[in-house]
Amino acid sequence: MVTISSRLKPLMQRGCDFLGTKLAVMGGAMSWVSERNLVAAISNAGGFGVLACGSMTPDLLRAEIQGTKTLTRLPFGVNLITMHPMLDALIDVCLEEKVGHIVLAGGVPSAPSIKRIKDGGAKVICFAPALSLGKRMIRNGADALVIEGMEAGGHIGPISTTVLAQEILPELHDKVPVFVAGGIGRGEAIVSYLEMGAAGVQLGTLFVCSSECIAHENFKKAFIRAAARDAVPTQQIDPRFAVIPVRAVVNEGTKHFMEKQREAIAKFDSGELTKEAAQLEIEHFWAGALRRAVVDGDIENGSVMAGQIVGLVKEEQPVDTILTELVRQAEQALLHREL
Ligand SMILES: Cc1cc2nc3c(=O)[nH]c(=O)nc-3n(C[C@H](O)[C@H](O)[C@H](O)COP(=O)(O)O)c2cc1C
Repeated sequence: MVTISSRLKPLMQRGCDFLGTKLAVMGGAMSWVSERNLVAAISNAGGFGVLACGSMTPDLLRAEIQGTKTLTRLPFGVNLITMHPMLDALIDVCLEEKVGHIVLAGGVPSAPSIKRIKDGGAKVICFAPALSLGKRMIRNGADALVIEGMEAGGHIGPISTTVLAQEILPELHDKVPVFVAGGIGRGEAIVSYLEMGAAGVQLGTLFVCSSECIAHENFKKAFIRAAARDAVPTQQIDPRFAVIPVRAVVNEGTKHFMEKQREAIAKFDSGELTKEAAQLEIEHFWAGALRRAVVDGDIENGSVMAGQIVGLVKEEQPVDTILTELVRQAEQALLHREL
């Protein structure tokens, strides 16, 4: 269990009180990666682990929550994707299993979903991709917000973490706890966001190469090899066919995706495919790709989702060591301010 000094404590207190932890550091949910082992390790080290539900069924989610409880007695959360067709049933599983915090991701959550969670006694954390949406989610009942910049791994928006933080923290930090995510890999950066009013931070990429993480060794090696510039968003080549940007390490799959877009668009232009069918061909290209990379270790054709901070990942280390180092850097930064 990582401990913090009286220097860092006041800055983290609000986030710690909200999460029920020693550190105001959330382990961002990562589909296929954030399962019971990593989540429990983060919570046991003093952070706040978050299970990634992804496309799990309610039964699978229940088993994963119960499995996590066998590994930690400390608080952890569950991340649900709002587009999941069984969202209400998944919320009910979390409530029945007494999960204290539910993170709603992948789109703007509806007011009824937020209400369902709160009526069931859990806290709701929502992603705020813009100030106006953050305000709307607070009006709809969100207990806390995560603001995630485009430096992050996985599905991203267009705005950087530094800009989101400057836009949102001064306006909303006194309304609800706000956690900053995207591109965080050192304690100095954590301190700077806390000083700007953040209640805490959320990190994903930095935990992938933890010893407790069950990701395939090829996936971890790809992280250790990669530089910041290797983690790039998927590109849309035609304004008529939308591509939701996903930041991942460039590989053969990235190149094939460009070819797939060109093929599908050519088929549409020649009348062979309807617009909807061409769009579906493009969207289906990455179906199952994260699983192929994380679970099967196919890092050439799968999706090696990673944030730009992957450049700071140099070796496999226990979660406790990763968090201890972040806290050491944060404490050092604060000490320097006093000198
Ligand atoms: C491999 C991978 C998978 C992810 N999957 C999800 C997900 O399923 N749901 C979600 O809300 N965020 C997901 N994220 C984002 C993380 O929860 C977290 O917010 C992000 O990694 C923080 O930025 P960082 O990578 O720069 O630390 C994923 C990130 C990565 C790297």
